[in-house]
Amino acid sequence: MTDIEIKKGLAGVTVDYTAVSKVTPDTNSLLYRGYPVQELAGTQPFEAVAYLLWHGELPQPHELSEFETFERTHRDLDDNVKAAIDLLPLEAHPMDVVRTAVSVLGANDPTTADNSPASDLAKANLLFAKIPAMVAYDQRRRRGEELVPPRGDLDYSRNFLWMTFGEVPDDVVAHAFNVSMILYAEHSFNASTFTARVITSTTADLYSAVVGAIGALKGALHGGANEAVMHIFEEIGTAENVGPWLDDALANKRKIMGFGHRVYKKGDSRVPTMKSALDTLIAHEEATDLAALYDALESDFVGRKGIYPNLDYPSGPAYHLIGFDTLTFTPLFVAARVTGWTAHILEQAASNALIRPLSAYNGPDERHIDGYEPTDAEREVAERPAEQAL
Ligand code: COA
Repeated sequence: MTDIEIKKGLAGVTVDYTAVSKVTPDTNSLLYRGYPVQELAGTQPFEAVAYLLWHGELPQPHELSEFETFERTHRDLDDNVKAAIDLLPLEAHPMDVVRTAVSVLGANDPTTADNSPASDLAKANLLFAKIPAMVAYDQRRRRGEELVPPRGDLDYSRNFLWMTFGEVPDDVVAHAFNVSMILYAEHSFNASTFTARVITSTTADLYSAVVGAIGALKGALHGGANEAVMHIFEEIGTAENVGPWLDDALANKRKIMGFGHRVYKKGDSRVPTMKSALDTLIAHEEATDLAALYDALESDFVGRKGIYPNLDYPSGPAYHLIGFDTLTFTPLFVAARVTGWTAHILEQAASNALIRPLSAYNGPDERHIDGYEPTDAEREVAERPAEQAL
């Protein structure tokens, strides 16, 4: 056992190829199918980026229009999904709600067991269209508001905000939201995507893989960080409190949410794009206090530790200014990342190998129950020569 090197957290381990996205930490760059993410966020609707992730190429105008037609006609919340959500307590975390809703959608889909590429792509498109209604309705019901049906004349981002707030958003707001969806869409072998790939590798269905990925995304070290950033802002209160708050937090060895990254060590490539979208929202909402708090925490923490913000740092406040409840932030990440997850599910299934690593045992030495006699069959298996015990 002593000569086994354990890569805790699989840090630095390359487990497979992917053509979906490329993260280059040295240059802080992120490419989706070869395109820099900031170029996509600056020029494309989220619908086109979803198409790119699944198909490998940006859609031609007729392909985009065909996909938009599908998306716009599959946005409604199914009655059985709504009924399942209504059974959940209002106190349930919205990530638990969206995880359950996706599971119900899968259990009701007669094609769930069909793992063919065409069927999986169709399910990916369906989830893309359906998840916004789940997230929007859950926020509304927690506020004591009625379901708002989708509008087929609005694009993905405007309709998502329409279903959540019952108002067509200003262009500034719709643009910032579209940018956030694109930036959150994909990020190589992060924890939730890897979870989806592990589940897919067993040949389980796409819905099971997405449900597992939602569970992985919930944690504060992964997707839950955007929500945690807003909790920190609430705790700190104003920019003047940042210094003493950080003294205390660091003395207590707290992780400062929205900072640091497993892969990027010199800054997250997505932050400048999201920060400029946040700046437009700050100007639009005249949120100068929030801006001051944001800047004060960033400069103090980066100055002390040299640990830079990740995407969750600007996206949390952006979602707050758009009007989302803090608890809804991570489900918004689900709506975006379902594109990347499903692109990886398709890729994993197309070139599958069961993902099953080894472990080094460090428990008690072998011991026995008094009086237990192995059967002949058990003895035969135990004595069978094996190259390696798993
Ligand atoms: N606040 C305080 N300290 C932090 C930190 C943070 N946000 N991020 C990293 N550090 C510290 C670590 O504790 C470690 O300290 P140590 O050497 O004394 O043990 C050191 O910086 C190096 O950490 P590193 O190995 O680079 O981090 P990691 O790869 O294990 O973890 C995260 C990466 C994302 C889990 C971590 O940065 C974190 O918890 N961030 C906050 C949560 C968050 O924003 N998650 C969203 C990620 S997109």
